[in-house]
Amino acid sequence: MEQLEIKLSKHLKEKPKSENELGFGHIFTDHMFLMEHSAEKGWHNAVVKPFEDFTLSPAAAVFHYAQTIFEGLKAYPGLRMFRPWDNMARLQNSARRMCIPEFDEKFVLEAMYELVRVDKDWIPKMEGTSLYIRPTIMAVDPFLGVHASSSYYFFIILSPSGFYYADGVKPIKIFVEDTYVRAVIGGVGHIKAGGNYAASIYAGDAATAKGYAQVLWLDAHEHRFVEEVGSMNIMFKINGELYTPPLRGSVLPGITRDSTIRLAKDRGITVHEEPIAIDELYKASLDGSLEEVFGTGTAAVISSVGELTWKDKKIVVNGGKMGQLTQELYDELTGIQYGKRPDKFGWTVQL
Ligand SMILES: Cc1ncc(COP(=O)(O)O)c(C=O)c1O
Repeated sequence: MEQLEIKLSKHLKEKPKSENELGFGHIFTDHMFLMEHSAEKGWHNAVVKPFEDFTLSPAAAVFHYAQTIFEGLKAYPGLRMFRPWDNMARLQNSARRMCIPEFDEKFVLEAMYELVRVDKDWIPKMEGTSLYIRPTIMAVDPFLGVHASSSYYFFIILSPSGFYYADGVKPIKIFVEDTYVRAVIGGVGHIKAGGNYAASIYAGDAATAKGYAQVLWLDAHEHRFVEEVGSMNIMFKINGELYTPPLRGSVLPGITRDSTIRLAKDRGITVHEEPIAIDELYKASLDGSLEEVFGTGTAAVISSVGELTWKDKKIVVNGGKMGQLTQELYDELTGIQYGKRPDKFGWTVQL
């Protein structure tokens, strides 16, 4: 079994003065986790150490062929975490698909807990804030050749964060992208590979420039069936029932998606995981049966969608306001995450 070394920083950084202006992903804590992999030693040298830059060869594989995967989860006030073992399992699944050597999930989970404990004073306390955790694995062989690297860095960094969208919990506007696609079945859309996000920036930037928070991707074949949003899965309430696209290999299996489905079913709501055509959604918005739309994701939690633009058509949802079910699911999920409501599914752990 791997040993975890702890090297504490002698120069602690100044913490942000106001939790109101944390934003997302700008600030990093005093420490990080790092573990190396080599062909001879496997995973080794696991350490929690002061946060610092890497020195890498410009030939490092990650810079050229993007053999890199990551995760995103949070620690909440009271040193509480939400389904972190599921993030580790998803990272392992991403590793397999990207030919990255498997790691000991239990060991890394414990190491991540240790890192969060070391930097616990960085967990913000204000409602809606948390300590965002970013585990990443990248290929570092200094060799130009398209093949699996033999050396890797597995690191975890922490970032105190506020709301993901600039407008906080206000319903967001989304652009339905019908030219560019995010992923194809048989590709890597179901894992958190860095390249998926690089490939999404072009359409994302164009949508942002037009005043939208993110894009809603459609399927790669017909550009008709809804897939997911930039960093969230998507759900529609139609005639009192919940609809979300199925996990067929091009959509990320979101942990918040799964939690939301279970919370909705627990409330007696019928949930359909089935293909949803954008033209049908448009019709549902015209006849009034499309009642609510929201995205689900660790960073964005449950984000109400007030408006979707598809071609020249505008789909305004619930008068642009957050719907009642969206609000109830948001309250229930964050209630469990922040330890204010009973955790009957055993989703949380307190460190
Ligand atoms: C593309 C994509 N879809 C969905 C999600 C939501 O997944 P989760 O709920 O596990 O955060 C994320 C965020 O990780 C994402 O990057």
